[in-house]
Amino acid sequence: IPVSSFDLVIFGATGDLAQRKILPGLFRRFSVGQMPRDARIIATARSEIDTDMFRADLRTSLAEFAPCISGDAEMLDQFLATIVYIHLDVMSQEGWSELVGLLRRSAVRAFYLSVSTSLFGTIASRLSSYEAVTPESRIVVEKPFGNDLAIARALNADLRQGFEESQIYRIDHYLGKETVQNLMALRFANALWEPLWNSTHIDHVQITVAESLGVEGRGEYYNRAGAMRDMVQNHLMQLLCLTAMEPPSRFEPNAVRDEKVKVIEALAPANPQEIVRGQYRDKEGQGSYREHAGDPTSRTESFVAMKVAIANWRWAGTPFYLRTGKRLRARTSEIAVVFREPPHMIFPEMENRRSNQMIIHLQPDEGITLHNTIKEPGPGGFRLAEVTLDMTFANALGGQTDSQDAYERLIMDVIRGDQTLFMRGDEVEAAWAWVDPIIARWEEARHAPEPYDAGGSGPEEALMLMHRDGWRWREIGRVEDK
Ligand code: BG6
Repeated sequence: IPVSSFDLVIFGATGDLAQRKILPGLFRRFSVGQMPRDARIIATARSEIDTDMFRADLRTSLAEFAPCISGDAEMLDQFLATIVYIHLDVMSQEGWSELVGLLRRSAVRAFYLSVSTSLFGTIASRLSSYEAVTPESRIVVEKPFGNDLAIARALNADLRQGFEESQIYRIDHYLGKETVQNLMALRFANALWEPLWNSTHIDHVQITVAESLGVEGRGEYYNRAGAMRDMVQNHLMQLLCLTAMEPPSRFEPNAVRDEKVKVIEALAPANPQEIVRGQYRDKEGQGSYREHAGDPTSRTESFVAMKVAIANWRWAGTPFYLRTGKRLRARTSEIAVVFREPPHMIFPEMENRRSNQMIIHLQPDEGITLHNTIKEPGPGGFRLAEVTLDMTFANALGGQTDSQDAYERLIMDVIRGDQTLFMRGDEVEAAWAWVDPIIARWEEARHAPEPYDAGGSGPEEALMLMHRDGWRWREIGRVEDK
């Protein structure tokens, strides 16, 4: 879908996120002709450099983060020509008039705050006092959206100083992933699944976001956050919501977000006995969390596993198990929907037979697989075998997909004015309201996380969490499905 002409202002344009994700993403959209040729990017930051210097540095970043297209010199020059740099310290009054003077009345204005959350309020109110906010303006913010409910509320109030809720785009980049959106297509564009999508037919759901990297270089932030704030409150919560929500009446931002908020509000308070916190320790020289975080006594968790109950008619009796951690065996993100056993089995039992499972793979490969039991072919008696139906999108569509990074998709949605894949203020607050008491209990008890080996599957206690219910986690990095 084409987008209208826009002026995109990036605050914090020399920072890591802008250089690694936002600007390379825009370059890729430019290269496929999705960015209107008169669209402009206005990069701002505190560095006292000029446009030529900014463009020169960006060339280096694009060579690293958009390597496939940065070899096209003409295209690269055209893209760089869309960018101007303005030196701006948001805390000072200087530079704002120049910035606002550059903006065109007729174009969509998007203000992307790739800066510390402590600056959100100042930027929103300055934009408003310099009369930069038109009806066609939007403000885009990144996570972490606060550290608890009180801070999230204050940030929402800050943003609303200059912008309406309909102009605020809170990014959770998991919502920009192709498969996450496909989950909605799968559930709401097919009649096949919806009758089965409830506790009568689904035994449990496992949501795993496992990472093989540790926290090297991000220790300062991570030590204050931990896996609960960094991953569970946002990314895992979003995956849970999209899996569990009721069908919205329309595919329209508020209709979708209303249903997600209802899921969060239906979450039963977490049972402390059903949450496992872990912290990775060194194994074979891979380094420990404490070394990577630069804090030899840190009690921050780099792993969380928990059992979650959704107290409503659809899901009563079907637990959702969530698990996320750093420095695990592999980088795997998936949602496994595990169906109940047939009510009565007429065939001889097959060893290691699994009940039907639908696995929604987010990464490393995107796609959906469905495990079924069939008769093993051949004359050797009636034996059962498991087959996997593979609905990997690239295969299904003959490789004819324009694969976009999550950020590219989300930035284009901002320009289009489509908030469906962005978190609404009340949604973020509801997620903090559920997470806060868990963290408060840990802090009060000075809870020490369970150690687990770097490169492993997490603490033993996390395995026990499932064993107690007669189940096993899916193996992290399992390959036979693909
Ligand atoms: C970020 C977290 O939001 O998501 C990081 O702050 C995490 O700690 C990252 O590594 C994971 O994103 P992805 O897309 O690589 O799974």
